[in-house]
Formats: sequence, C-alpha cells, structure tokens
Amino acid sequence: MKRIKMLAGNWKMNKLNRDLAGFFGTFFEAVGWHQDESLSDRVDVLFAVPPTLLAHAVPLAEPSGVRIAAQNIHWETAGAFTGEVSVPMIKEVGVSATLIGHSERRQYFAETDVTVAKKTKASLVHEVLPIVCVGETLEQREAGLTQDVVARQVKAALADIQDPKDLILAYEPVWAIGTGRSASAAQAQEVHAEIRGLLLALFGHSIGSGIRILYGGSATPNNIGELLSQKDIDGALVGGASLKPEDFAKMVRAAL
Ligand code: PGA
Repeated sequence: MKRIKMLAGNWKMNKLNRDLAGFFGTFFEAVGWHQDESLSDRVDVLFAVPPTLLAHAVPLAEPSGVRIAAQNIHWETAGAFTGEVSVPMIKEVGVSATLIGHSERRQYFAETDVTVAKKTKASLVHEVLPIVCVGETLEQREAGLTQDVVARQVKAALADIQDPKDLILAYEPVWAIGTGRSASAAQAQEVHAEIRGLLLALFGHSIGSGIRILYGGSATPNNIGELLSQKDIDGALVGGASLKPEDFAKMVRAAL
C-alpha cells in the first residue's frame, strides 16, 4: 500500500498568535505551495501547535490542505478535569489531529502507557487522527532494551483498537529529541521495521501496511533526505526545525 510521506511540525510551547500569519506566509512561499496545486496530494503537512493557537491556525492552514493538530488531549468528552482539553473541544475549532504520548509528556506530565491507550481510543472514536509517539531513553538503548520498550509502548497504545481507520505512529528516541543527535537512518529504519512487523501482526496486511510511521528526534534539512529514503520511514515529526518556516519548507520539499 502506498503511504504518502508526512512532515509534521511540533511547535511544543512556542509561538504566539501574532506570529502565525507571518509564519504561514513565509512557509507557503518557500515551499511554492500555492504555485503547484498537486503538492497537497503528494505530501501531508501538519503542525501541532499550543492550544491558544489552534483556532487561529486552522483558517490559515487547513484551506490550503495543511492540517493543524493539538499536542495533547484528554480522553473524556467533558467533566471535572481542570486544565484539560477534550477531543470534541479541539474538533469544534476545526482541528483534525493530535499528538499523543510525546516523550516530554511521559517524562514531565506523568503520561503512561495506560493514559496513552485511553487517549488513542478517544481520538479514534471522535475521528481525530492520532499521532502516537513512542521511543526509548538512552539508558534503555544502552541496556539493549530498545525493541522491547518500543514494542511494549506500541502494543499498549493500541491494545483496545481493533480496526484503526487512520492512525500514525511516531518513533522518537528520547536521546535524539532536541539534542542535535539524530538517530542514524539505519538505526531509525531498524526500529521502524520492527514497528511495521508489529502492526502487520496486530492488524493484518491491508491495515498494518497502510499505517504511517514517522521518525522524530533532531530531524533537520540536512538529514531528512537520508531518513526519508528508508523503506519504513514514512515522514518525520520535527520539533526545533519546524519553528523556522524556511527550514521546515526545505524538509517538505525533500519529501516530494
Ligand atoms: P526535535 O523534536 O526535532 O527538536 O528533536 C522532535 C520532537 O520532540 O517531536
């Protein structure tokens, strides 16, 4: 099954509403997005932005075929959960995707395999595209536990899912995030192949072969070409380099 490459920006806790128009103007111009209508069929572009930017980013991006995503959601629809945002709430403002279980959330905000599973389920129930993040720490890699940890995280996240219509996984080794030390293309491909095998075993060939697996962790315009040339790397989740419209535009171009 043909998997269209996806370039997903993760802005983390960065940018203000006043930055949006300038950012998207420069980004679309640098990609040549509006000069070639076929681009939005050949590459998927998405930005996961802070909650305060969601409603304003949607009209700037979605009409051009670029998706806006949340960075986190709660699994309940509504209720006494101070400080949380539900899937219907992000949907109401036109958001069509969400990150789930990013390692910074696992590390600093007590996200666990259990909450990741609940969030993945909630997002699929409400037909919002989940981008589920997994990845090992440096300690786990050095102890030879990479495959075990990643397999456990993937299985746990998808434990309650029978037939995922639309789902994306992101392999993000924790030691590569924000460190300038990307996994090599071969290191990433090795884990992606393992995840692909797991998806085939869980969902069978027709669904398992269609689920995209993104790589994340210090992906830049310099290393994106090699990463994307790997058989099981279907795109990238990009933090730092997605904050600069010209850099991220180069990465989108590399995917074409
Ligand atoms: P980075 O972040 O590209 O800045 O390493 C990736 C991520 O955390 O998604």
